[in-house]
Amino acid sequence: MCGIVGYIGAKEAAPLLIDGLKRLEYRGYDSAGIAVFDGKDINMVKAKGKLSILDERIDKQGMPKGALGIGHTRWATHGKPSDINAHPHNDCSGDFVVVHNGIIENYKELREMLKAKGHTFNTECDTEVVAHLIEEYYDGDLAEAVKKMLAELRGSFALGIISKKEPDKIIGARKDSPLIAGIGSGENFIASDIPAILPHTRDIYILEDGEMVVLTDNKIDIMNFQGDRVEKKVFHVDWDAVSAEKGGYPHFMLKEIHEQPKALKDTMTGRIDINGVRIKLDDITITREDVSRIDKINIVACGTAYHAGIIGKYTIERLARIPVEVDIASEYRYRDPMVDKNTLVIIISQSGETADTLAALREARKRGARILAITNVVGSSVAREARDVLYTWAGPEIAVASTKAYTTQLVSLCMLALDLGIKKGTLSREEALEIMKHLKQLPAQAETILKNEEEIKRLAEKYSAWEDVFFIGRGLDYAVAMEGSLKLKEISYVHAEAYAAGELKHGTLALVVDGVPVIALATQDFLYEKMMSNIEEVKARGGIVIALVKENDKAMTNIADHIIPIPQTLSLLTPVLTVIPLQLLAYYTAAARGCDIDKPRNLAKSVTVE
Ligand code: F6R
Repeated sequence: MCGIVGYIGAKEAAPLLIDGLKRLEYRGYDSAGIAVFDGKDINMVKAKGKLSILDERIDKQGMPKGALGIGHTRWATHGKPSDINAHPHNDCSGDFVVVHNGIIENYKELREMLKAKGHTFNTECDTEVVAHLIEEYYDGDLAEAVKKMLAELRGSFALGIISKKEPDKIIGARKDSPLIAGIGSGENFIASDIPAILPHTRDIYILEDGEMVVLTDNKIDIMNFQGDRVEKKVFHVDWDAVSAEKGGYPHFMLKEIHEQPKALKDTMTGRIDINGVRIKLDDITITREDVSRIDKINIVACGTAYHAGIIGKYTIERLARIPVEVDIASEYRYRDPMVDKNTLVIIISQSGETADTLAALREARKRGARILAITNVVGSSVAREARDVLYTWAGPEIAVASTKAYTTQLVSLCMLALDLGIKKGTLSREEALEIMKHLKQLPAQAETILKNEEEIKRLAEKYSAWEDVFFIGRGLDYAVAMEGSLKLKEISYVHAEAYAAGELKHGTLALVVDGVPVIALATQDFLYEKMMSNIEEVKARGGIVIALVKENDKAMTNIADHIIPIPQTLSLLTPVLTVIPLQLLAYYTAAARGCDIDKPRNLAKSVTVE
């Protein structure tokens, strides 16, 4: 995830910015850069790769001098990781320099508009439009130009802006991406995250959406985008450096669970056109003719990504009426798969580097299949080797157990299924519109589920001594049950199994006796009564049932021991929500058992060996 740090004061800015960026390294990034005003010009140093490469470049070029500057670590979304695409970015004149976290949704329109006015663009980044817009609007007042620029932007952003026209200030602005202003003495700071400035100050202002800040070395003015002054309380940070990295959460996993509303929103940003009833997946070049030639789809992945693939099968078959097989990558590569030029192979990988997944991709490509990758890492091996790429914009995932990558993979698969269905003509305009509207509600609904965290924590603590747990569900709920069971076992080391509820009576029911915990998912409307019978079977044998059901479900309250409500949405979309309580349940069980949650034993984040 991108990081921002900015400084204005009397000290040399460059070493301070580099140090701040190093403190944000844990967030993951693929390139970095700084810009410093030397009293005459703004000098930039940028480099693809780690900060050590930026350091080497600075050693060669010399440390930029000056007491005003901004720095950035970039996690690529628009445009591959490269020296050129690294932030900061500037306008045509080099007078205005910006760093940005987030996604500018309408950057293409803005770029065209600015090009028509004579602006020249040097990078592939959405961010560059910000510098050119300020150049376009500047008329002797930087804050005014920034306000006009902000009125043009759609999407999410935290911005840091400096200009050699007004080198006595830094301007910051925030919408849907965090930004803070750090209060110093004779110096002030901006940053996307507290750790970046923690050695210099513990007193900060936290900007809200729709607010901008103008900092000089001895003043911080906060206002809304219309220019009305905002009074804010100083927030005193009493976290240590390690908790600050985790945003105050005890573990990255919990932080990432809480980042899901934003990750979902970002992943859908600019891709769902409700008015045009269209899905806009820029990096996907599959045409209507291509879709008509696809006679089957293979989805190939490992672990959690494989579980997302199972949901993808249901969704694509239902919306696009193309048969889908889902394979575990380590099996697929050795099973002599029947694949040819009419097969679309969808590879799902958060890291884009999983060895088995990559080998499966190569195997399918060798056999003539068209490859489409869904990945979270721009420029990863999977992204480079696929013909089409659909990026999840979840930001880097640090905890070994995947959470926000999974839910963003689900919405990506749904958008892809909609796109295929619309192109194939298997989906009516009304149905597509209905699904799009519900997709857009998911981030807010995910927030609602997170508000129930205390209740889930209480349940997890109550049952944390459990040794065997069963997860049951039907249809999409069964697929989510598999993911819930994987989460529980990998971080809490509790033995957990997922079963299609209809399979219980074919064997597993023998294990359900007094006190055995069963987590039952019953969110699929047309399978609800069948699930109810399965839950009755469990209860009749003394099992303890924790049921996940759509909110306001009265019937289940009389049967299950505990209810976890899931906000109302289309049955097709419930997996995105249902998995969140299961992630929390796994997390709090592991916490109660004292496990090493972010780094579970024997597991690695990216499995680059077979
Ligand atoms: C489980 C988990 C793993 C990964 C799997 C694939 O929480 O994270 O099961 O999903 O190793 O990794 P990627 O998606 O990077 O290919």
